[in-house]
Amino acid sequence: MSNENPLIEINHLKKYYSVSNGIFTNKKASLKAVDDVSLTVWKKHSLGIVGESGCGKSTMGKTILRLIEPSGGSVVFGGKELFHVEEKRFMDQKQLRSLRKEMAMVFQDPYGSLNPHMTIGDAVKAGVLRHKIVPREEAVEYCIEMLCACGLEKEAYASYPNEFSGGQRQRAVIARALALRPRFVVCDEPTAALDVSIQSQVLNMMLDMQEQMEFTYLFISHNLQVTRAFCDEIAVMYLGKIVEKGKADEVYYHSIHPYTKALIASLPVSEPGRKKGERKIINSIPSMMDVPQGCRFHTRCPYADEKCRTEEPELRQIEDGHAAACHRA
Ligand SMILES: Nc1ncnc2c1ncn2[C@@H]1O[C@H](COP(=O)(O)OP(=O)(O)O)[C@@H](O)[C@H]1O
Ligand SMILES: [Mg+2]
Repeated sequence: MSNENPLIEINHLKKYYSVSNGIFTNKKASLKAVDDVSLTVWKKHSLGIVGESGCGKSTMGKTILRLIEPSGGSVVFGGKELFHVEEKRFMDQKQLRSLRKEMAMVFQDPYGSLNPHMTIGDAVKAGVLRHKIVPREEAVEYCIEMLCACGLEKEAYASYPNEFSGGQRQRAVIARALALRPRFVVCDEPTAALDVSIQSQVLNMMLDMQEQMEFTYLFISHNLQVTRAFCDEIAVMYLGKIVEKGKADEVYYHSIHPYTKALIASLPVSEPGRKKGERKIINSIPSMMDVPQGCRFHTRCPYADEKCRTEEPELRQIEDGHAAACHRA
């Protein structure tokens, strides 16, 4: 994909939280939720970020958009630098505000992100007016069109969130984000709260909208199978670091890292791609406060040897466009 244009370039991104070391001490420890992540997101493509709960996916999404302050690294969006921590360069708030409409974020919980006292229509219209997306007199019609494009009836415009099902609410949240005609949409587990049957309908709608409006997705999920279906490329995250990345089908069908293989092995047996006899993860996920020395996955890896326990593997290209951080690869 190197002959295409990047929309986002993420270099050595870090987000450390300072957390208490326990209830009996004032000492603070550094929790490295995102620990030196570099990624490129290509225009009009979808990049999936996959990993177990707590591995730093949401923190990464929010840091890229500068909804939370970064601890290190840089992000360039459409040729404009949002920040470069080491060089002490940060885009000023005014410029950042005007870029906000180009970068949308859709969260997992559709109820929490809608005001229960506001109609769906007013919620969508507020952003459209604030960012002057269409002339004021066309705003209502435009918002109704957007709700319908996202699979809702036009009556949705005058409805309140509590009159909706979970799936309809999530469609409304997506319509609100897309009404600003963003170039980049970060979706953080957008369908995890929905029934499986509804999930695929909403995901298909999201793909249709991408085709019509030509924007770029960063798709965050704990489900490797859903991500393969949705994305062109996948980056697998483990305890704050990317351990494998490549084209979606390559990562799914020809995974290299034992962690990726274990994620696939943990899918229900009926799933395609799951290979019989693949060894499952042993032990549970370590705390981010206590990341293992050497390869951070070695405490759960069925193949770990002495080198894995002492030396941290680099993320390196194994095949064309397919990288993994594993000594055994
Ligand atoms: N505001 C915060 N303060 C301290 N620690 C946090 C904060 N937000 C997240 N974390 C920690 O950072 C790690 C990554 O969290 P998160 O990004 O939410 O992971 P994911 O989205 O993959 O589930 C977790 O260990 C979590 O407890
Ligand atoms: Mg999360």
